[in-house]
Amino acid sequence: MDKSEQTITFIDMIKTISRALDLISSTVVGHHKKVAYIAYRLGKRLNLNRDLLYKLVISALIHDIGVFYLNQRFSDLSFDRKDNRHALVGYLLLEEYFPLPGTAAIIKNHHLEYRDISDDISKTMPEEILLGQLIHLADRIAVLLPESDSELDVLQKKNKVKTVIANHSGQWFWPEAVEEFYYLTEREAFWLDVVNQQRSDFIIEKFFSDYHKPLSTEELLNISKMMSQIIDFRSPFTATHSQGIAEVAINLARKSNISEQNCLQIKVAALLHDLGKLIIPLDILEKADKLEKQEWAIMRSHSYYSNYCLQAAESMANIREWASYHHEKLNGQGYPFGLESNLIPYEAKLIAVADIFTALTEDRPYRKGMKIEKVRGILAEQVSQGELEPKVTAIITDNLAEFNGLRKTAQKKTRQKFKAFQNKVEEQKRLEQGV
Ligand SMILES: [Fe+2]
Ligand SMILES: [Fe+2]
Ligand SMILES: [Fe+2]
Repeated sequence: MDKSEQTITFIDMIKTISRALDLISSTVVGHHKKVAYIAYRLGKRLNLNRDLLYKLVISALIHDIGVFYLNQRFSDLSFDRKDNRHALVGYLLLEEYFPLPGTAAIIKNHHLEYRDISDDISKTMPEEILLGQLIHLADRIAVLLPESDSELDVLQKKNKVKTVIANHSGQWFWPEAVEEFYYLTEREAFWLDVVNQQRSDFIIEKFFSDYHKPLSTEELLNISKMMSQIIDFRSPFTATHSQGIAEVAINLARKSNISEQNCLQIKVAALLHDLGKLIIPLDILEKADKLEKQEWAIMRSHSYYSNYCLQAAESMANIREWASYHHEKLNGQGYPFGLESNLIPYEAKLIAVADIFTALTEDRPYRKGMKIEKVRGILAEQVSQGELEPKVTAIITDNLAEFNGLRKTAQKKTRQKFKAFQNKVEEQKRLEQGV
């Protein structure tokens, strides 16, 4: 089958998001995958029905999605840390964009302590509380594990983990889930699976093999918008970049007579093009001065990591190339692959032009947006150097004011959204604190 004909499924997107989330931490390797695996085993022990199990594992695979907005690291989320704002941010993001109902509430509850659940609720354990409790326990088990991922270390430490969890049963954790955890701790395979990523991947992959939730184009766009906010809202300086390039790219695509279906996929690729920026430290992302050589090397790696994240599902192959080749140049002087023109798809060349146009016209931490006549000169220069695709660039330079207007409107809307999002987080925080 031609790769463009493959349908992108809901699980394909979940795998991509989860891979992107696991990218951020070098200290807690594969955190989301580990939590998903442990939660899956707990859910199975509790005989959850299939739909609940699916929801549990999907929620676990993305449970710390709110961490990025707050620029926290997973290593900040140590065992007894009380800062749960990321659960709230995750809730706000998912509530707006996520196509699986109930997931947002589960994420909101994933650090809820058992003793804070009222008696009425703990008797019935509604879905969002029950699944939240399982992720809570799985997550705390995962952060207690040794960092090394060595089988020997984990087997030596398992009793310690059990004691710490036992000490908090009924206080932090739901006792029924803790009982099931005791059962699992006695089975070495459980612990060995947790640190053997290949095997736990295989088990989760197999579990999802009969899960068939289709993804409409609208849902695909919504999840991509959510991801673009996660990438961009880390910093006020980048808060509107992906929406700007997405708007420019889809209009360039429409003027290139590309089918509407592919125009929308180009928009998705543009929204996700900087996915790998999640790995770039904020001090580099926001630096107002010129980057040092080392910092620049780190910055440049982002498109490589966009490629890596989007490789989580084969059906995303087109989007992966279109998105992650945005710093490749026709003359082979681009990065990270240094591809020659014949290996770069037209759609990727289009996104590269949209990216440069957006970057030049928007404000950056180190300079104000440029006037469009100056932009025209720079684009012409890059075409003559053999860097940019001439036909796509001509579409922009023939319609400079129009494209700049489209970009501005999209970015203005996103800027308002960014502010509203900041306010919502503050408001929720106040509500939670009862102020
Ligand atoms: Fe968390
Ligand atoms: Fe977590
Ligand atoms: Fe980039």
